[in-house]
Amino acid sequence: MEPPFMKAAYFTELGGPGVIRHGDQPLPGPEAGTVLVRVAASAVNHVDTFVRSGAYATELRFPQVVGRDLVGTAELIGPGAAGRFSPGDAVWSNSMGFGGRPGAAAQFIAVPADRLYRLPPGVDPVQAAAVLHSGATSHLALHRHGRMSSGHTVFVGGAGGGVGSAAVAMAAQAGARVICSSSRADAGHCLALGADVALDYRSPTFAADLRDAVQAVSGGRGLDIHLETSGRHLLELAVDLLGRGGRIIAMSGISGTDPVPLGKLYTRDGSILGFAISNATVAELADAASAVNALLAGGFRARGVSPRPLAGAAAAHEALAAGTVHGKIVLVP
Ligand SMILES: NC(=O)c1ccc[n+]([C@@H]2O[C@H](COP(=O)([O-])OP(=O)(O)OC[C@H]3O[C@@H](n4cnc5c(N)ncnc54)[C@H](OP(=O)(O)O)[C@@H]3O)[C@@H](O)[C@H]2O)c1
Repeated sequence: MEPPFMKAAYFTELGGPGVIRHGDQPLPGPEAGTVLVRVAASAVNHVDTFVRSGAYATELRFPQVVGRDLVGTAELIGPGAAGRFSPGDAVWSNSMGFGGRPGAAAQFIAVPADRLYRLPPGVDPVQAAAVLHSGATSHLALHRHGRMSSGHTVFVGGAGGGVGSAAVAMAAQAGARVICSSSRADAGHCLALGADVALDYRSPTFAADLRDAVQAVSGGRGLDIHLETSGRHLLELAVDLLGRGGRIIAMSGISGTDPVPLGKLYTRDGSILGFAISNATVAELADAASAVNALLAGGFRARGVSPRPLAGAAAAHEALAAGTVHGKIVLVP
């Protein structure tokens, strides 16, 4: 018999990291169509800080538990969810904690069965939690919005980070030619993931180096897809390097106000497509989940995974907002 309360990291008003409390919250029941999951690991992502601060507006139900990604074990199966999952199944979800749904940074969570996926056998829950959001984001950005095909030339900025690393790996696995930017220390990591060229974003010759790399790798056709995950954009250059019909996927830099070089964009049939995984449908998320499971089963892992107790949620948000996190913080209840 479980106690009627569980530990959780939650907030009761929008604000800075200090609004997050760690304490008791009512233990959820397995409502119709949901599975009650015992959480083993819950990742802390940039978007969690946007939800908590209000920078990303979404329906919240206070007290709102923080966090969208979790890995755990199915505990109780609610009416209507039987047959899809059984108690003891290793499972994960990456779309909780916004849109009126409870959050992941808790000992237990009731997850709608259509937002729950099986974890591939043998994958460590903490390691898996660190890949869910970045892997699903990369898949939807490249395949759904970028319409990536084998032979495309793809640029990935911020390739040393979570989304960037997954994007390099997924693009290379899909047969694309990948040019990426990272800190110099991360170049070897990017090449090992399958990048053809890894450029140092701090180099004074970065723009010229990127221009040369796009020319050489694409055979002069230009970029098919430009994916900048660092939040720092060079749109004038990005548009100039687009090939005919190329696509810039805008998905980072929540306070960005960069001007668009419109003339250069429309004359190459180029497009800038905004994308936020928070808007993905249940079907799109399920498609992305298959890609994430393939990534995990293939041995892809996040770097610098740092497990912390649930009580460390506020400090984790603080560190993420301050830009001092290199890797992924994972909360372990
Ligand atoms: N739209 C969506 O659906 C969606 C989904 C997930 C994430 N995101 C956004 O995507 C971004 C990346 O998320 P993440 O989880 O991958 O973050 P992350 O792990 O912190 O990675 C960010 C990376 O950017 C690098 N970087 C910083 N400045 C750079 C520059 N000028 N050029 C190239 N790289 C630079 C950092 O490198 P250093 O280590 O050298 O500083 C770091 O490796 C965040 O802004 C996040 O909010 C959006």
